[in-house]
Amino acid sequence: MKTPIILGIESSCDDTSAAIIHGRKILSNIVATQKVHENYGGVVPELASRAHQQNIVPVVHQAIYKANISKKQIDAIAFTKGPGLVGSLLVGTSFAKSLSMSLDVPLIEVNHMQGHIFAHFIEDANRSPITFPFLCLTVSGGHTQIVQVNNYFDMIILGETLDDAAGEAFDKIGKLLGLNYPAGPLLDKISQEGNENKYSFPLPKLNGIKFSFSGIKTSVLYFLQKEIKKNSNFINENLNDLCASVQKTIIKALIKKLKEAIHLTGIKNIAIAGGVSANSKLRTEVLKLKESDHCKIFIPKLEYTTDNAAMIAIVGSIKFEHQKFTDLSASANARYKI
Ligand code: KG4
Ligand code: ZN
Repeated sequence: MKTPIILGIESSCDDTSAAIIHGRKILSNIVATQKVHENYGGVVPELASRAHQQNIVPVVHQAIYKANISKKQIDAIAFTKGPGLVGSLLVGTSFAKSLSMSLDVPLIEVNHMQGHIFAHFIEDANRSPITFPFLCLTVSGGHTQIVQVNNYFDMIILGETLDDAAGEAFDKIGKLLGLNYPAGPLLDKISQEGNENKYSFPLPKLNGIKFSFSGIKTSVLYFLQKEIKKNSNFINENLNDLCASVQKTIIKALIKKLKEAIHLTGIKNIAIAGGVSANSKLRTEVLKLKESDHCKIFIPKLEYTTDNAAMIAIVGSIKFEHQKFTDLSASANARYKI
């Protein structure tokens, strides 16, 4: 079989992205991140769909141009079917369907969460390839899951969050600290200058592979309210230490459950994925599992952590290898499960 060239399209949340992949090699990966949400503390769905509508054509053009191919060389189009915001997903889905009609090439539907995990299959000369079975801690703005990946299309979710996702916890607590959306990367940066042992917030007490982050958020809120009563400038004066202490708590909760999953399954190949896998503390802590639990650790390249179409294109490529196509009746599904 000829190595396919696939266009990947991602529009599930607030990033409009297009990528071209040749086999498992990424030729281009263009991401237009929407700035309109910065001051709202979260993504405004209506604004997100409008921005996708504006961005999708130029982003796809740029991806084709940067890959140095012509539209006619595209063998298939992979798009994010879900999960995500329905108005955002509809833009990418409709665009992918129209382009597949006009180019007369097959369509491949992709689960966004599977995309985050499959980013580990993108060809990379500097990283050793991941092998099955592996556990993936997928941590993003909408999801927090530990997934047992037995094979490309055989995945079991071992546990998820009962309330907020890890990225959501970073964003919401960041908002309490006065940081713009998305607060995760800013909080990570500010934490570098802070003392992570200055404040302590309670970890959730949960049996089994489950996460919960709303309690941490509430305890930070009450703590800040109490301190601000005594000193109205409390946050400004202690921002670095506050950020570092919050970050330490969230990452500790993630690593604790990841270790439990390792002990439960005996699987020692460990990957992290999703926007929060860009977090420097998570990256450092997960690497420690090499020594403590004799694990092999797989950390994605930074550009493939937050939402991007390269991860959609790689799923497309692997589904193409297995001839898993869909047709023009395909539709967006905001709650699409892996
Ligand atoms: O995977 P992603 O781009 O979108 C979703 O699928 O949700 O993840 C976005 C999330 C946001 O909550 C953002 O604050 C968080 O990932 N994030 C980070 C970092 N970079 C992105 N959180 C903590 N530290 C970071 N360095
Ligand atoms: Zn994502």
